[in-house]
Amino acid sequence: MIPEIPLDMDQIKGFLAADEAGALYRYALQASAAGPVLEIGSYCGKSTIYLGLACQANDSTLFALDHHRGSEEHQRGEMFHDPALYDSGAGVMDSFREFRRNIRAAGLEQTVVPIVAGSAAAARHWQTPLAMVFIDGGHSLDAALTDYRCWAPLLRPGGILAIHDLFEDAAAGGQAPYAIYRMALASGLFAPLARVNSLGVLGRL
Ligand SMILES: C[S@@+](CC[C@H](N)C(=O)[O-])C[C@H]1O[C@@H](n2cnc3c(N)ncnc32)[C@H](O)[C@@H]1O
Repeated sequence: MIPEIPLDMDQIKGFLAADEAGALYRYALQASAAGPVLEIGSYCGKSTIYLGLACQANDSTLFALDHHRGSEEHQRGEMFHDPALYDSGAGVMDSFREFRRNIRAAGLEQTVVPIVAGSAAAARHWQTPLAMVFIDGGHSLDAALTDYRCWAPLLRPGGILAIHDLFEDAAAGGQAPYAIYRMALASGLFAPLARVNSLGVLGRL
């Protein structure tokens, strides 16, 4: 069961349904006993808090990777733009301040290690094997492919690959996350473990 969280999760800006949050917590609790967890796409920290609480229970670490400049849909004039997260001085999106505030309020500063960088740059010299990777970064095909190619090979055998925003029907949402999900399955390196709402969970064989 998810432990008591010292803040109102409904007030945290983000893109994660309650059933998906529960599944992330459960799989991270299992995985983080064996090693660190990494998420790509933290935004204001909603998924980070659920993954982080699981890592905290195992005295493990969550690497929370995000350049905090927003995805395509967060930019000015786009559907999910939030003016409160826009740095008008610099003319860029900046969700890092809000992210830090939420991680602190959740009591996770000693568990969550923020990596403020692009996914490919962060992966370039990464060598630490990962027990779980959660992909929820950019949703263009290029971004999703980069995340999958950079981070899936770093999963240890028995590790968990979770991918958010899977939509079989293109009318319901973008197809890039589903494309890498299918690619992972077709590789023969992963077996399906669960499907919760738009979250797909695979196990590294
Ligand atoms: C859909 S949001 C993540 C939502 C979050 N998981 C939640 O629970 O609310 C996607 C995030 O991915 C980040 N992002 C997009 N492309 C990225 C990239 N190439 N490298 C790092 N972060 C990226 C954006 O800045 C944005 O904060």
